[in-house]
Amino acid sequence: MRLRVDNIARIVGMESRGRLRLCGEEMDRMESLDDAWLLAVDGRIAAFGHMTEERPAADRVVDAAGGMLFPSFCDSHTHLVYAGSREQEFLDKIHGLSYEEIARRGGGILNSADRLHAASEEELYDAAMRRVREIAAMGTGCVEIKSGYGLSTEDELKMLRVIRRIRETVPLEVRATFLGAHAVARAYAGRQAEYVDLVCREMLPAVAREGLADFVDVFCDEGFFTVEETARILGEAARYGLCPKIHANELAVSGGVQLGVRCGALSVDHLERIGAAEIEALRGSDTVPTMLPGAAFFLGMSYPPAREMIRAGLGVALASDYNPGSSPSGNMRMVMALASIRMRMTPTEALHAATLNGACALDLSRDFGSISVGKVANFFLTEPMPSFEFFTYAYQTPLIARTFLRGEEFVA
Ligand code: NIG
Ligand code: FE
Repeated sequence: MRLRVDNIARIVGMESRGRLRLCGEEMDRMESLDDAWLLAVDGRIAAFGHMTEERPAADRVVDAAGGMLFPSFCDSHTHLVYAGSREQEFLDKIHGLSYEEIARRGGGILNSADRLHAASEEELYDAAMRRVREIAAMGTGCVEIKSGYGLSTEDELKMLRVIRRIRETVPLEVRATFLGAHAVARAYAGRQAEYVDLVCREMLPAVAREGLADFVDVFCDEGFFTVEETARILGEAARYGLCPKIHANELAVSGGVQLGVRCGALSVDHLERIGAAEIEALRGSDTVPTMLPGAAFFLGMSYPPAREMIRAGLGVALASDYNPGSSPSGNMRMVMALASIRMRMTPTEALHAATLNGACALDLSRDFGSISVGKVANFFLTEPMPSFEFFTYAYQTPLIARTFLRGEEFVA
């Protein structure tokens, strides 16, 4: 199947040098092509060129009608398999309770775990698929989905099987992360060490036996899991070949960033509370610092120091954290807008963070995250726009006109 797109005002997010992540000042340099066509063959990008040049033959030709072509977003951090919703806690927050206070009262993650326990695999799958279709229509082409609302072996497996089924049915590239250590299950209240034992001795081997996870994650933060507990879980997971991604430094200066770098984590995520020591630890490491401004926005927290991180030469990623408690949105355009408005990232930096660097945080940037010959043809076309920056500036205008995954049009 050969698909050609004609009349593209500008192709953005190109990467011709094969870099797997853009770091520091590189993040603000955009490689683009104006007045272009693009050819996808059998789901991969095969060629592009100027409209004035001769165009290769194709089975299907799409007219971009003067819109721009963007690489699809790579959302490297979501919890989009969940049951029900948590708007009662939204009201509690409006009335003054903090995320930690709600969690201490048995709400939060434990609330979602109760609902997930009561839901069938079918119900979970249907609800999650609605969210996956929603994010695909909003431009996402790769997505990571975590477990972590099961908190028992059986329910964690249930979540991961749902993720596997999603992966088998959608054209998006899906990665699964085992997050058994998201919170201490209700049944283990006051017995955190025993819960960590359960994660290590029962959950991890069961997850590995079925081959259900690509990565492992731990909520390493004040009131959740300590650095020591996290290190133990990651050590066990390494025996099964699961690479870590860590929830770090959301609620406190937890030491999670340094641990992630030491363990060779693919990414450390959240980072609302980091300073010079954490930035220093990340310099020169392959661990991708990943920011989730949708969560900082929804919870009214301070934002990560993105400018300092980029100035220090780091290659940062942006993800949605789509989940029912701290970020009930998977809209990566909104994430980019928050990055620009609240963290002073330029639209160019924000796009690279939401595409190539997000793919890198999933070890996918060889095949995804930019418009490069040989990569999977995941992209979207916009309405005509006066400039590239307009996309982030006019953040609510419905500008995404058509999306393509693996070289075929995706219709939600
Ligand atoms: O990334 N911080 C931990 N986990 C999620 C929130 C999960 C929830 O509240 O349901 C997060 O923000
Ligand atoms: Fe999260």
